[in-house]
Amino acid sequence: MNYFRDDLKYKKPTKITVPDKKIKMGLNESSLDPFEIVKENFLKNMESVKLNRYFNKITATLRNQFSEYAQVDPECLIFGNGADEMLYYVFTAVRNDNDSYAVSLAPSYFDYKSYSNAVGLGIKFLSLNADFDFSAEEYLKLCDDKNCKLAILCNPNNPTGNLLDENKILEIVNNSDRLVLIDETYFEFSGKTFADKIDRYKNLVIIRSFSKSFSAAGLRFGYIISHADNINELKKVMTIFNLNLMTQTMISTMLDNKEIFLEHNQNIIKNREVVFQKLAEINGISVHPSATNFLTFTAGSKTRVLLTFLADNDIAVRPVWHHPVLHDHVRVTISDEYSNTYFLKYVKKFMTGGSK
Ligand SMILES: Cc1ncc(COP(=O)(O)O)c(C=O)c1O
Repeated sequence: MNYFRDDLKYKKPTKITVPDKKIKMGLNESSLDPFEIVKENFLKNMESVKLNRYFNKITATLRNQFSEYAQVDPECLIFGNGADEMLYYVFTAVRNDNDSYAVSLAPSYFDYKSYSNAVGLGIKFLSLNADFDFSAEEYLKLCDDKNCKLAILCNPNNPTGNLLDENKILEIVNNSDRLVLIDETYFEFSGKTFADKIDRYKNLVIIRSFSKSFSAAGLRFGYIISHADNINELKKVMTIFNLNLMTQTMISTMLDNKEIFLEHNQNIIKNREVVFQKLAEINGISVHPSATNFLTFTAGSKTRVLLTFLADNDIAVRPVWHHPVLHDHVRVTISDEYSNTYFLKYVKKFMTGGSK
């Protein structure tokens, strides 16, 4: 007896396997603990938030704070449990029938596939070129079908780290009749946003996250910026109290102290450039420029053994070699100075023939 949707038989549960190492540089998390930073104010703010109630004025406060932060009207925003949940809502809302599909570049964020499949939305991919650029014409060709319901562009792109060509993004937004989702999860590191264009382009949906630049991966918070009419449609597939009041209070408190997080990001950007330089100086390593909080690099045919060597020395980085464009590549998150130095030391040791 099969109780569930037929196609789920062929899908595996979404999971992520990360080795638990002392040096955590695999998941693009931050080394800051936001609770430590805003604990006092958070607890004070919680005093007026009653967890036995569904509603609290913190929801309106948060909306106004974000309206200011993202510089859009409050009705152009919705919030949820991480960018992942926001993706899930968009995928659910655009799927029309079994033939509906989305288009994404590849390699890109792995879970576009997991979540589109989860809601029964197909997905087609256009491979990036070797230089991580792509053909807008080819992309639009893939979209040119009545069953294409969504064009996804991750900007900057995970796991390649680069910003996509702005003119190509605009070409896609301009020439596509469907919704165009721009994933700006790494926005605070790139400084590049399309949020100021939502009035002009009604088909734009922007997703952002607090997991990276606001050090809140475990808190789970993400949001959508789009034209108010789109927000209204998306609300139709959302659960009504999706974001709990405690998270709302914590996010609101963090926004009151946003300078601390934004300053930390500036340090990450500086450290990213230092790690980039130092990696590039190691013989046999080739590293790509990045507009994010991570670097993607290769040690050629030695990459897989390097990954094991790093793991044996308590350092977790992420293999991203599953697409031919990133053949033999791994991704390292820029962390605190101690972790960055530790990581560089062991890469150097391995590449110069040292062993454990
Ligand atoms: C491009 C991209 N989109 C979305 C997500 C999911 O972020 P969140 O933790 O906010 O769900 C990630 C997480 O790594 C990501 O890299």
